[in-house]
Amino acid sequence: MNKSITTARACGKIILFGEHAVVYNQPAIAVPLQAIAAMVEVLPTKAGSGLRISVPQTQREFRFLEAHEGSENGLIVTARLVLKKLQAPEPDISLVLHSTIPQKSGFGSGAAVSIAIARALSSYLGQPLDDAIVNDIVYEVEKMHHGTPSGIDNTVIAFEKPLYFVKTRPNEFIHINGKFHFLVATLPHSTPTKVTVSDVRYLYEKHPRRVQRIFRRVGELTNEARLALETGNISSLGPLMNENHKLLKRLTVSDSMTDKMCRAAVRAGALGAKLSGGGRGGNMIALVTDETRGPVADALMKHGAVRVIHTSLEATKKTTQ
Ligand code: MEV
Repeated sequence: MNKSITTARACGKIILFGEHAVVYNQPAIAVPLQAIAAMVEVLPTKAGSGLRISVPQTQREFRFLEAHEGSENGLIVTARLVLKKLQAPEPDISLVLHSTIPQKSGFGSGAAVSIAIARALSSYLGQPLDDAIVNDIVYEVEKMHHGTPSGIDNTVIAFEKPLYFVKTRPNEFIHINGKFHFLVATLPHSTPTKVTVSDVRYLYEKHPRRVQRIFRRVGELTNEARLALETGNISSLGPLMNENHKLLKRLTVSDSMTDKMCRAAVRAGALGAKLSGGGRGGNMIALVTDETRGPVADALMKHGAVRVIHTSLEATKKTTQ
């Protein structure tokens, strides 16, 4: 076993189309966000000290054998699942986690930190797990955090490719044509995904036919969006985003600040805008061109964005897993 000092990384993600409806077997599209990432460094410690996970940003440290309250508990669970998969005993190491992914903001922070832990630990043990296995392990941890997650967050982050995702089907990675520029704005507030997902469940149980129609329409928009991304049809993507946002509003997962930011982005020249992820805060995205990127970023900051990140999508290879 090669026990060298190791580091591992996992990026953030944004959902372009289909959030919430994806929980009900409709397709969704998500893409990796490389500008933000979780990083884990493995440091050997003295014999008998066991496995620790430390998070210098929050000045917290977790030991393998202890139970902890709070989201970081998922880190220990991840380590436990990795050791079980590799049938390895608890090593004497410290896993040091640093992350630039804002928590609870729809960027897949929980999935990314777990993926970085799984990669770092398995590499340190000389048996790096492949992306599909890391994905399966982290999906188990996601269920702890989110109740009934579709699995889209862990999948797009584990594979780091633009993803067309349907819960019950094999993953498909999208071959992008042309170049699409997005601005991703972080809002100053957020709502746990678990809360918005359970509110949508309540709405669905109360009005099954009406909500099912919304889900189906979101699925159609997602399929049209996939075609637009695959054919480089930038102008048709924006209106699809606007319509998806309206449907998310009807699912009660937007709020007045997100709506204002979407309107401000479109007024400033964005081709389309929508909330992204669980909703009611977190983040929103706008499709821009080289010319409108500056004015739209200014408008988003003026309307309360904490930070605006630019990301672009361009040619990738199509594969099935
Ligand atoms: C969260 O990033 C996306 C949701 O659709 C929930 C899920 O898919 O598990 C809101």
